[in-house]
Amino acid sequence: MNIDNYIELYKNKTFESMNLYYRSKEIFPGGINHNIRFYKPYPFLTVKAKGNYLKDIDGNKYIDFWNGHWALILGHSPKTITKNLKKQIKKGTLYGTPNKPSIKLGELINKAIPNAEGIRFSTTGSEATMYAIRLARAKTGKRVIAKVIGGWHGFNSNLLQSVNYPYEADEGIGLVEDEGQFIESIQFNDLDRSLKVLESIKDDLAGIIIEPILGGAGCITPINGYLEGLQEFVKKNDSLLILDEIVTGFRLSYKAALDHYKLDPDIFTLGKIIGGGLPIGAVCGKKEIMGLADVTDKIEKNTYCSIGGGTFSANPLTMTAGYKTLKYLKKNPTVYEKINFLGDLARSELSKLFNELNIEAEITGIGSLFMIHFLNDKVKKINNALDVALSNNELLFNYNLALIAKFNIFFLPLKMGAFSYAHEKEDVYKLIEATRQIFQNTKKYNNIQR
Ligand SMILES: Cc1ncc(COP(=O)(O)O)c(C=O)c1O
Repeated sequence: MNIDNYIELYKNKTFESMNLYYRSKEIFPGGINHNIRFYKPYPFLTVKAKGNYLKDIDGNKYIDFWNGHWALILGHSPKTITKNLKKQIKKGTLYGTPNKPSIKLGELINKAIPNAEGIRFSTTGSEATMYAIRLARAKTGKRVIAKVIGGWHGFNSNLLQSVNYPYEADEGIGLVEDEGQFIESIQFNDLDRSLKVLESIKDDLAGIIIEPILGGAGCITPINGYLEGLQEFVKKNDSLLILDEIVTGFRLSYKAALDHYKLDPDIFTLGKIIGGGLPIGAVCGKKEIMGLADVTDKIEKNTYCSIGGGTFSANPLTMTAGYKTLKYLKKNPTVYEKINFLGDLARSELSKLFNELNIEAEITGIGSLFMIHFLNDKVKKINNALDVALSNNELLFNYNLALIAKFNIFFLPLKMGAFSYAHEKEDVYKLIEATRQIFQNTKKYNNIQR
């Protein structure tokens, strides 16, 4: 079966999704509300999500490895969260005033990750990273922020630089030059080259913002010494290290990746998991930096850093979902044992399978995060976002679509997968079996590769 057949199969089983996709195209640009949610020929429309699956409007049930942008560590709608949300709904959804659930969540984060000496909640991760760099500039009095090529920190204008290949080009129209002029890009996992760039801007370098594990750019772990080298540079230079832990916070363990990699960032951001399935972002950091956001007793504008929170920040619903999620994770370390085991199993079984099939592939990831990359003449090893961009993405897309169309296994095409507590070993074996069938012989491999 070649890729055209998979597309045909997909269309046949998602007829109602197609109708609704064309309806949504009339209102939403591109028919979607987040750029990455579109894939060809059109995305299916979800009507229900529970545990490890998504159900579409045509009645198809998919094993879900996308997990709501990797936010759902306990799976979709776990009872422990939904029952508490029901209770909270009765007490109100948005107070617009301080509330106890936010204090409880803040304290829990601070206990788990003591580096979070101060915290400000927002509604999205994009806001959190925007505030993080503003705080870094406020603290240092410097302007330049270094980011990694391919690094994704949300849609805030400042950091919408060098995200997609080709990295030198603007990330679309509508961004003015001024927004990019104080952003420098460095190559992930290449310490020498990164330090050279940093050295050239050090006098005006407010900080480096970096995901400890590149997520959106391809699930790439740092090589030994890379993050430490950057940290050493900023500490020497009176600049700041900002770790973007929006994906990694509470993902590898009941802590942040800063613990795993033994880092001591000045500022770090959280999101996704800490919202328990509801919208959230958080900027966290050292007391003297987060203190700059305290406007309560400051009259002069030049003495504080104005970061927001927004209308929906710290709303009691999100705070309750986040608190109950973290409480559950704290009480049940088996969650991490299980999801990390599933990640290891998927990586090793996929590697074994591709070896056996004689297909050049690299499975990247750590813990419960994993991603398949198909190698080619240009790319033999995945070290950074450029390697991912130049690898065989056409094959990856076709493979992802084949999984959706024939095997009811959902990865958002071209994006990494994540395990949740609701996944089981069988899900890994289903993925392996489906992959085997898709690539069974070279003829099919060539057909799907077209
Ligand atoms: C590392 C990282 N930072 C920031 C963001 C932006 O978060 P949000 O989509 O909640 O604005 C994301 C989203 O995927 C992310 O992966």
